[in-house]
Amino acid sequence: MIFDTHAHYDDEQFDVDRENLLREIFSAGIGNIVNVGANMVTSRQSIALAKAYPEIYAAVGVHPSDIDCLNEEAYKELREMAAQEKVVAIGEIGLDYYWDKEPEVQAAQREAFKRQLALAREVKLPIIVHSRDAAKDTMDILAAEEPVENPGIIHCYSYSVEQAREYVKMGYYIGVGGVVTFKNAKALKQVVEEIPLERIVIETDCPYLTPEPNRGKRNASLYLPYVVEKIAEIKGLTDAEVEDITFANAKKVYGL
Ligand code: NI
Repeated sequence: MIFDTHAHYDDEQFDVDRENLLREIFSAGIGNIVNVGANMVTSRQSIALAKAYPEIYAAVGVHPSDIDCLNEEAYKELREMAAQEKVVAIGEIGLDYYWDKEPEVQAAQREAFKRQLALAREVKLPIIVHSRDAAKDTMDILAAEEPVENPGIIHCYSYSVEQAREYVKMGYYIGVGGVVTFKNAKALKQVVEEIPLERIVIETDCPYLTPEPNRGKRNASLYLPYVVEKIAEIKGLTDAEVEDITFANAKKVYGL
Protein backbone atom coordinates (compact mmCIF):
# COMPACT_ATOMS: atom_id res chain seq x y z
CA MET A 1 0.00 0.00 0.00
CA ILE A 2 1.04 3.56 -0.67
CA PHE A 3 0.75 6.50 1.74
CA ASP A 4 0.32 9.86 -0.02
CA THR A 5 1.90 12.12 2.60
CA HIS A 6 1.06 15.41 0.88
CA ALA A 7 -2.01 16.19 -1.22
CA HIS A 8 -4.43 19.06 -1.83
CA TYR A 9 -7.79 17.43 -2.61
CA ASP A 10 -9.49 20.62 -1.43
CA ASP A 11 -8.27 22.23 -4.69
CA GLU A 12 -11.02 23.42 -7.02
CA GLN A 13 -9.54 21.28 -9.80
CA PHE A 14 -11.10 18.35 -7.93
CA ASP A 15 -14.56 19.91 -7.60
CA VAL A 16 -15.82 18.05 -10.66
CA ASP A 17 -15.09 14.53 -9.46
CA ARG A 18 -13.60 14.59 -5.92
CA GLU A 19 -15.77 11.89 -4.40
CA ASN A 20 -15.53 9.38 -7.25
CA LEU A 21 -11.82 10.02 -7.64
CA LEU A 22 -11.10 9.44 -3.94
CA ARG A 23 -13.13 6.24 -3.99
CA GLU A 24 -11.13 5.06 -7.01
CA ILE A 25 -7.86 6.00 -5.27
CA PHE A 26 -8.66 4.05 -2.10
CA SER A 27 -9.57 0.95 -4.08
CA ALA A 28 -6.37 1.21 -6.14
CA GLY A 29 -3.85 0.56 -3.37
CA ILE A 30 -3.52 3.98 -1.82
CA GLY A 31 -3.99 3.34 1.89
CA ASN A 32 -3.92 6.82 3.37
CA ILE A 33 -3.61 10.48 2.41
CA VAL A 34 -2.66 13.56 4.39
CA ASN A 35 -4.46 16.57 2.97
CA VAL A 36 -2.31 19.62 3.59
CA GLY A 37 -3.56 23.14 4.25
CA ALA A 38 -1.88 26.19 2.70
CA ASN A 39 -4.01 28.95 4.25
CA MET A 40 -6.87 29.25 6.74
CA VAL A 41 -9.55 28.21 4.27
CA THR A 42 -7.73 25.15 2.95
CA SER A 43 -6.70 24.15 6.48
CA ARG A 44 -10.40 24.07 7.42
CA GLN A 45 -11.16 22.15 4.23
CA SER A 46 -8.42 19.63 5.08
CA ILE A 47 -10.10 18.93 8.42
CA ALA A 48 -13.45 18.56 6.67
CA LEU A 49 -11.97 16.00 4.26
CA ALA A 50 -10.42 14.09 7.19
CA LYS A 51 -13.84 14.00 8.84
CA ALA A 52 -15.52 12.74 5.67
CA TYR A 53 -13.04 9.96 4.78
CA PRO A 54 -11.57 7.46 7.25
CA GLU A 55 -8.41 7.18 5.11
CA ILE A 56 -7.65 10.92 5.11
CA TYR A 57 -5.77 12.88 7.77
CA ALA A 58 -5.20 16.64 7.86
CA ALA A 59 -2.35 19.10 8.26
CA VAL A 60 -3.09 22.72 9.11
CA GLY A 61 -0.83 25.68 8.40
CA VAL A 62 -0.14 28.72 6.25
CA HIS A 63 2.13 28.53 3.20
CA PRO A 64 4.81 31.26 2.90
CA SER A 65 3.06 32.82 -0.11
CA ASP A 66 -0.21 33.09 1.83
CA ILE A 67 0.97 34.73 5.07
CA ASP A 68 -1.08 37.91 4.58
CA CYS A 69 -3.96 36.08 6.29
CA LEU A 70 -1.97 35.56 9.50
CA ASN A 71 -3.21 37.85 12.26
CA GLU A 72 -3.64 37.05 15.95
CA GLU A 73 -7.08 35.64 15.36
CA ALA A 74 -5.71 33.32 12.67
CA TYR A 75 -2.95 32.04 14.96
CA LYS A 76 -5.59 31.37 17.61
CA GLU A 77 -7.70 29.41 15.12
CA LEU A 78 -4.64 27.45 13.93
CA ARG A 79 -3.96 26.42 17.51
CA GLU A 80 -7.58 25.29 17.90
CA MET A 81 -7.49 23.39 14.61
CA ALA A 82 -4.21 21.70 15.59
CA ALA A 83 -5.97 20.17 18.60
CA GLN A 84 -8.68 18.55 16.48
CA GLU A 85 -8.92 14.85 15.90
CA LYS A 86 -7.05 13.57 12.81
CA VAL A 87 -4.86 16.66 12.54
CA VAL A 88 -1.41 15.09 12.32
CA ALA A 89 0.95 17.94 11.37
CA ILE A 90 1.46 21.68 11.07
CA GLY A 91 1.93 22.54 7.39
CA GLU A 92 2.64 23.48 4.93
CA ILE A 93 4.89 26.16 6.39
CA GLY A 94 8.27 27.53 5.33
CA LEU A 95 9.95 29.92 2.93
CA ASP A 96 9.39 30.60 -0.76
CA TYR A 97 11.85 33.09 -2.21
CA TYR A 98 11.04 32.02 -5.76
CA TRP A 99 7.76 33.90 -5.84
CA ASP A 100 8.61 36.61 -3.28
CA LYS A 101 11.85 38.50 -3.87
CA GLU A 102 11.37 41.65 -1.72
CA PRO A 103 13.46 41.61 1.48
CA GLU A 104 10.53 42.79 3.65
CA VAL A 105 8.29 40.03 2.35
CA GLN A 106 10.99 37.44 2.93
CA ALA A 107 11.51 38.74 6.48
CA ALA A 108 7.77 38.40 7.08
CA GLN A 109 7.91 34.84 5.76
CA ARG A 110 10.66 33.99 8.24
CA GLU A 111 8.60 35.42 11.10
CA ALA A 112 5.49 33.44 10.09
CA PHE A 113 7.59 30.30 9.69
CA LYS A 114 9.16 30.68 13.14
CA ARG A 115 5.85 31.35 14.78
CA GLN A 116 4.17 28.32 13.23
CA LEU A 117 7.21 26.26 14.17
CA ALA A 118 6.75 27.38 17.75
CA LEU A 119 3.10 26.38 17.54
CA ALA A 120 4.07 22.92 16.27
CA ARG A 121 6.42 22.49 19.21
CA GLU A 122 3.77 23.67 21.62
CA VAL A 123 1.14 21.22 20.34
CA LYS A 124 3.77 18.50 19.76
CA LEU A 125 3.06 17.91 16.09
CA PRO A 126 5.59 17.40 13.28
CA ILE A 127 5.92 20.08 10.59
CA ILE A 128 5.62 19.86 6.81
CA VAL A 129 8.19 22.26 5.36
CA HIS A 130 7.75 23.99 2.01
CA SER A 131 11.06 25.55 0.94
CA ARG A 132 11.88 26.95 -2.47
CA ASP A 133 14.99 28.96 -3.40
CA ALA A 134 15.59 29.46 0.32
CA ALA A 135 17.96 26.63 1.24
CA LYS A 136 20.21 28.55 3.60
CA ASP A 137 17.55 30.46 5.55
CA THR A 138 15.41 27.34 5.93
CA MET A 139 18.33 25.34 7.30
CA ASP A 140 19.40 28.22 9.57
CA ILE A 141 15.92 28.48 11.09
CA LEU A 142 15.45 24.73 11.54
CA ALA A 143 18.98 24.15 12.85
CA ALA A 144 18.50 26.87 15.48
CA GLU A 145 15.56 24.92 16.95
CA GLU A 146 15.86 22.73 20.01
CA PRO A 147 16.17 19.20 18.54
CA VAL A 148 13.09 16.96 18.81
CA GLU A 149 12.72 13.28 18.07
CA ASN A 150 10.24 13.62 15.23
CA PRO A 151 10.55 17.07 13.63
CA GLY A 152 8.70 16.32 10.36
CA ILE A 153 9.06 16.30 6.57
CA ILE A 154 11.00 18.44 4.12
CA HIS A 155 8.34 18.30 1.43
CA CYS A 156 9.06 18.24 -2.32
CA TYR A 157 12.76 18.21 -1.56
CA SER A 158 14.71 20.28 -4.10
CA TYR A 159 18.12 20.94 -2.54
CA SER A 160 21.53 19.24 -2.40
CA VAL A 161 22.51 15.78 -1.19
CA GLU A 162 24.70 17.35 1.52
CA GLN A 163 21.77 19.29 2.91
CA ALA A 164 19.50 16.22 2.72
CA ARG A 165 22.03 14.32 4.82
CA GLU A 166 21.99 17.17 7.32
CA TYR A 167 18.16 17.12 7.54
CA VAL A 168 18.20 13.36 8.00
CA LYS A 169 20.68 13.78 10.84
CA MET A 170 18.26 16.26 12.42
CA GLY A 171 15.52 13.61 12.25
CA TYR A 172 13.59 14.85 9.21
CA TYR A 173 12.05 12.76 6.47
CA ILE A 174 12.58 13.74 2.81
CA GLY A 175 9.41 14.09 0.71
CA VAL A 176 9.73 12.68 -2.83
CA GLY A 177 7.07 13.02 -5.52
CA GLY A 178 6.56 13.23 -9.28
CA VAL A 179 9.68 15.31 -9.87
CA VAL A 180 11.84 12.19 -9.37
CA THR A 181 10.42 10.80 -12.65
CA PHE A 182 11.48 13.87 -14.66
CA LYS A 183 14.45 13.46 -16.98
CA ASN A 184 16.21 16.58 -15.68
CA ALA A 185 15.81 15.75 -11.96
CA LYS A 186 19.44 14.68 -11.50
CA ALA A 187 19.90 16.20 -8.04
CA LEU A 188 16.76 14.60 -6.60
CA LYS A 189 17.68 11.19 -8.05
CA GLN A 190 21.05 11.54 -6.36
CA VAL A 191 19.33 12.42 -3.08
CA VAL A 192 17.14 9.29 -3.36
CA GLU A 193 20.23 7.22 -4.05
CA GLU A 194 22.17 8.58 -1.08
CA ILE A 195 19.50 8.85 1.62
CA PRO A 196 18.33 5.68 3.40
CA LEU A 197 14.88 4.57 2.25
CA GLU A 198 13.90 4.63 5.94
CA ARG A 199 14.00 8.45 5.65
CA ILE A 200 11.95 8.90 2.46
CA VAL A 201 8.20 9.52 2.26
CA ILE A 202 6.08 9.58 -0.88
CA GLU A 203 3.81 12.43 -1.90
CA THR A 204 1.86 13.81 -4.84
CA ASP A 205 1.43 17.51 -3.97
CA CYS A 206 -1.57 17.02 -6.26
CA PRO A 207 -3.03 18.63 -8.32
CA TYR A 208 0.56 19.73 -9.06
CA LEU A 209 3.81 17.99 -10.04
CA THR A 210 2.37 15.08 -12.03
CA PRO A 211 4.92 12.32 -12.68
CA GLU A 212 5.93 11.03 -16.10
CA PRO A 213 4.30 9.73 -18.28
CA ASN A 214 1.37 11.97 -17.30
CA ARG A 215 3.36 15.18 -16.77
CA GLY A 216 1.23 18.23 -17.52
CA LYS A 217 -2.07 16.58 -16.54
CA ARG A 218 -3.84 17.06 -13.22
CA ASN A 219 -1.99 15.00 -10.62
CA ALA A 220 -3.67 12.49 -8.28
CA SER A 221 -2.55 9.74 -5.90
CA LEU A 222 -3.38 7.22 -8.65
CA TYR A 223 -0.08 8.12 -10.33
CA LEU A 224 2.07 7.38 -7.27
CA PRO A 225 3.08 3.91 -8.55
CA TYR A 226 5.28 5.76 -11.10
CA VAL A 227 7.08 7.44 -8.23
CA VAL A 228 7.43 4.15 -6.34
CA GLU A 229 8.77 2.47 -9.48
CA LYS A 230 11.41 5.15 -10.01
CA ILE A 231 12.59 5.03 -6.39
CA ALA A 232 12.74 1.22 -6.58
CA GLU A 233 14.80 1.45 -9.76
CA ILE A 234 17.26 3.92 -8.17
CA LYS A 235 17.54 1.89 -4.97
CA GLY A 236 17.69 -1.54 -6.64
CA LEU A 237 14.65 -2.72 -4.69
CA THR A 238 11.22 -4.08 -5.60
CA ASP A 239 8.21 -1.78 -5.81
CA ALA A 240 6.67 -3.70 -2.88
CA GLU A 241 9.69 -3.04 -0.68
CA VAL A 242 9.55 0.68 -1.45
CA GLU A 243 5.80 0.77 -0.73
CA ASP A 244 6.13 -1.08 2.57
CA ILE A 245 9.02 0.92 3.96
CA THR A 246 7.72 4.34 2.89
CA PHE A 247 4.25 3.45 4.23
CA ALA A 248 5.81 2.63 7.61
CA ASN A 249 7.82 5.87 7.46
CA ALA A 250 4.68 7.92 6.86
CA LYS A 251 2.91 6.29 9.81
CA LYS A 252 5.91 6.97 11.99
CA VAL A 253 6.27 10.64 11.10
CA TYR A 254 2.54 11.33 11.47
CA GLY A 255 2.28 9.31 14.69
CA LEU A 256 -0.34 6.85 13.35
NI1 NI B 1 1.78 21.34 -1.19
